[in-house]
Amino acid sequence: MNRPWWVDAVVYQVYLRSFCDADGDGVGDLAGLRARFSHLVELGVDALWLNPCYASPQRDHGYDIADYFAVDPQYGSVDDIAALVQDAHAAGLRVLMDMVANHCSDQHPWFVEALAAPAGSPARDRFLFRDGTGPDGKLPPNNWGSVFGGPAWTRAREATGEPGQWYLHSFDSSQPDLNWRNPEVREYFEDVLRFWFDLGVDGFRIDVAQGMVVASDLPDLTAEHRGVAGGHPMWDQPEVHEIYRGWRRVGDSYGEERYFVGEIWVQGADRLRSYLAPDELHQAFHFDLLVQPWHAARIREAIDNGLRTSLVSGRPTAWALNNHDVHRVVTRYGQEQDLTRPDPDDLLAAARRTGPVDLELGRARARAAAMLLLALPGSVFVYQGEELGLAEDFSLPDHARQDPIWLRSAGAQLGRDGCRVPLPWAADAPSFGFSLRPGSEPWLPMPADFADAAVDRQEQDPDSFLTLYRTLLGLRRSLFDADDPLEWLVGPSPDVLALRRGSGLCVLNFGSVPVSLSEQAADAVVARSRPGVDPTIPQDSAAWIDADRVPGALERHLWTSASVQGAPTRL
Ligand code: GLC
Repeated sequence: MNRPWWVDAVVYQVYLRSFCDADGDGVGDLAGLRARFSHLVELGVDALWLNPCYASPQRDHGYDIADYFAVDPQYGSVDDIAALVQDAHAAGLRVLMDMVANHCSDQHPWFVEALAAPAGSPARDRFLFRDGTGPDGKLPPNNWGSVFGGPAWTRAREATGEPGQWYLHSFDSSQPDLNWRNPEVREYFEDVLRFWFDLGVDGFRIDVAQGMVVASDLPDLTAEHRGVAGGHPMWDQPEVHEIYRGWRRVGDSYGEERYFVGEIWVQGADRLRSYLAPDELHQAFHFDLLVQPWHAARIREAIDNGLRTSLVSGRPTAWALNNHDVHRVVTRYGQEQDLTRPDPDDLLAAARRTGPVDLELGRARARAAAMLLLALPGSVFVYQGEELGLAEDFSLPDHARQDPIWLRSAGAQLGRDGCRVPLPWAADAPSFGFSLRPGSEPWLPMPADFADAAVDRQEQDPDSFLTLYRTLLGLRRSLFDADDPLEWLVGPSPDVLALRRGSGLCVLNFGSVPVSLSEQAADAVVARSRPGVDPTIPQDSAAWIDADRVPGALERHLWTSASVQGAPTRL
């Protein structure tokens, strides 16, 4: 079938810093990724997305870029990217990079130049410098807050040493926002894209894609803006779309296969859809699912929202349960579930809750959720370590934490280090095999129980997370064909989600009454999230069933009557 590669791809997200360290400095690198590339191949993914590895002072671990045309020396070189692309293409995998263009690093030559230049100069116009308010301009230009906590403005020192203008930074003060109304900025980034496309890179994940343009009059954020789709002056401004039209023209000039997926935090499907116009982005992450609690109706609603967006935009959804910005799903689903709706102005908070965790429960649910996710139409992004069932590491000592969220909130918020701990490869090796050569300690300490999660141990275990992910990825395309639409079946209770797509059926039971499958259906189970042989689908588990082996009207032949009559359960 002739369809673009990304339509139903499984993309593996590589947080390079924590993937594998070849040179023993305690930080993952491109040589380490190439050394362990077989992990991706054996997992059966179609592509990888590399978190930013450009030259950077690493204040936000690569999301603060000082040189867009260079690789940070601790990760390798541009030649290593070229070699990685070659390896990947030879193995039939695509390579996506991360495009961070809302801001650069304060070490980028442009910002260094802007600080040295006077107010009103062309060098300052590449950023958002403004005079302060109040006596002596002591107060910031407006009341905007940074996503990482604290104000979104920092006062610069003029070349004379005097306190001077303020500059906008939606994130850390080391990440000055670029002025996308300046044509020079636009041209520069199109050159950046060309540079990497010329090297063979297949596409980009676009960082904070809704954030590049802010309201030109920089109004204070007021209560009226809150909860209003498109109302927030820092996000989702109409001019942002012109940027992506330009980027698409660049991508398309290389042929149809170059791809953009947006990290877009906006309120509501209409806003998201506007980024998916035929001449803009190919896909956007559907974060709605990621921020939902473990609850059948809520998860189904989030999936339906994604499918609706996809239907109207004509763009298959990009699904994910994890990434480098949220607490790992094993932990989220192992916590007490909070059914209040996430705050539309701070969706991420719902995926970064703290509190006691039942890891066994979280793992069972995460396994079931993976089965649901991989049965959906669209692409699926798997964050490294998800396939190992890693949990959020809440045990990191304070002194080890590095996330600017932790630093800017003076420890009030844990931040994201706990989902970025290096991967365990070998249970009995120093640093669990993360460093291939002895040398420095890993950049974040690895918990002792990582031995059980190590790849070499999981490979030997037919019931491990890794084995489950390999099995599911191996079966996915033969059961759930990309062109087949999703059809919800009526389950035996509202706590059961049952969907059919092509020859595949996925049944997930959230409720306490086990789903009793008919004999035919039980015989047609091809994968289950809960290890062991069980003719039922117990609570917090899922199964894939080969529908071609269950003849007739499905609903009538799937469940036994006892199970249909079982009292519906409530969470
Ligand atoms: C995005 C990235 C996050 C980063 C931020 C600033 O949300 O996913 O990791 O810190 O943008 O670039």
